[in-house]
Amino acid sequence: MTTIDWTLMRAEAARVRASAYAPYSGFAVGAAGIAADGRMLTGCNVENASIGVTLCAECGVVSDLVAGGGGRLSAVSCMGGPAGQEGAAVLPCGRCRQLLAEHGGPGLLVDSPQGPVPLEALLPDAFTARDMAADDDEAPA
Ligand code: THU
Repeated sequence: MTTIDWTLMRAEAARVRASAYAPYSGFAVGAAGIAADGRMLTGCNVENASIGVTLCAECGVVSDLVAGGGGRLSAVSCMGGPAGQEGAAVLPCGRCRQLLAEHGGPGLLVDSPQGPVPLEALLPDAFTARDMAADDDEAPA
């Protein structure tokens, strides 16, 4: 069981937020995650002139998890706000809640302005691989 150091995670999210590429919205986001094996993962938002293909900071965290060998996400913290100003805890957008559900499941702890909450509270009854499997035994855990 990984100990979750929220102070460190928020600091990592704030640190990587300084690297955000957000020239269109001006809203810089940094995210940090902790894997079940203790790895610290980070990401920042990367926007694009074709606005719809913007990568949220959480996409970077998931990519970092998978690129570093995979595993499960235990906790995530996202810090956002106008670029150049101090950030505050922001909740993941809907698409990112779905991304996080795939790699952390309903028990993943997500930081919020009120403190950590389980992902299940943010995305109840999430659609998962189990919903596509004819036989539950065939679905990824
Ligand atoms: N953004 C994130 O990086 N994560 C979220 O969960 C919410 C939104 C980014 C996307 C876009 O670059 C900017 O914040 C404004 O929506």
